[in-house]
Amino acid sequence: MTRLTALLGLELPLLQAGMGAVAGPALCVEVSRAGAGGTLALYKEPPARAARLVREVAAGTGGRPFGVNVVPEVTGPDRCLEQLRAVLRELPANGFVTVFGLPAEDAARAVRAAGHPLVVQVGAPADADTALARGAAVLVLQGIEAGGHLLGGQPVDSLLAAVRIRHPHAVLAVAGGIATGEDLADAVARGADGAMAGTLFVPAAESAAHPEFKRRVVEAVAEDTVITSLFEIGWPHRPHRVLRNSLTAAAERTPAAFIATTRVDGRPYPVPRYSAAAPGATTTGRVEEMAMYCGRSCTRVTAPRPAAATIARIRQEYENARVLRAGAHTSAPPTPHRIQEK
Ligand SMILES: Cc1cc2nc3c(=O)[nH]c(=O)nc-3n(C[C@H](O)[C@H](O)[C@H](O)COP(=O)(O)O)c2cc1C
Repeated sequence: MTRLTALLGLELPLLQAGMGAVAGPALCVEVSRAGAGGTLALYKEPPARAARLVREVAAGTGGRPFGVNVVPEVTGPDRCLEQLRAVLRELPANGFVTVFGLPAEDAARAVRAAGHPLVVQVGAPADADTALARGAAVLVLQGIEAGGHLLGGQPVDSLLAAVRIRHPHAVLAVAGGIATGEDLADAVARGADGAMAGTLFVPAAESAAHPEFKRRVVEAVAEDTVITSLFEIGWPHRPHRVLRNSLTAAAERTPAAFIATTRVDGRPYPVPRYSAAAPGATTTGRVEEMAMYCGRSCTRVTAPRPAAATIARIRQEYENARVLRAGAHTSAPPTPHRIQEK
């Protein structure tokens, strides 16, 4: 349907964002099986565990394409390359790799050499240029409306317009503000080849987010989100959009004591106040004080449902919106000439 679907082998031009603590194998599998671009978040996963998770997803998708997501800014370039080397051995031939921010040249080369499309998320036109120069097959243009860490400061529409003028033939997806099929159709009408959504999938039945996180995203409206730099332990120097909570409202910083515990493979990891970690299903403690990343699209995000049901709904809305737009274009208003003929 678009160059994005053709390139990645999808049925719908929608990618699910890789999201630390949220986008584990279960979500990735369900999104991919439903025809969209499911993506496994590798975030800080050790390489051996990351490879195991990729094998798990590959066994569940029935041959449908899926992606893996790395965040070099968090892992550092060396660890990112280790993660990539470990997972590229396991990624099926039709898999793709998404990167939050610019990948180092050797990381980009490793993905390309393995024959997988490189999908790079950027937030500024100059970074779009660099990502293409490093061999990105798809650019994800993140607007300031997005949930999570922010790569730029521009509204998504103006970023798309600016990059489209610079790169008329690039495959472009937008990120930020996408929660319905109408949103997706709007983005395509403005010149995008598709979109990436994160917040939309946080409340999904298969999401690994903590139930309180899911509930708050469903209840929130755009004004309940705020851009802050508070949750910087483990991921400094990068503003992020989160749901407002007692920490974002506080006039002063309180000590960064341990407030929660997250378990990975049964092992407990303490979470300090102001940690960048989002609350997952295995997190216990003062979850309400943790970073609940959330985009302005939350206004249109509805109750938890299986991801497949959400994608079926979006697909229907998208098709309806495309049909309506095509109809609007073909039934042009009468020209003065036609009026004279009457
Ligand atoms: C809970 C959450 C966690 C995120 N974690 C990641 C991540 O690990 N890697 C990544 O590439 N992007 C991450 N993002 C950002 C997304 O890639 C994307 O920019 C964003 O979700 C788009 O805006 P939306 O949430 O309004 O759809 C995260 C977003 C959210 C909401």
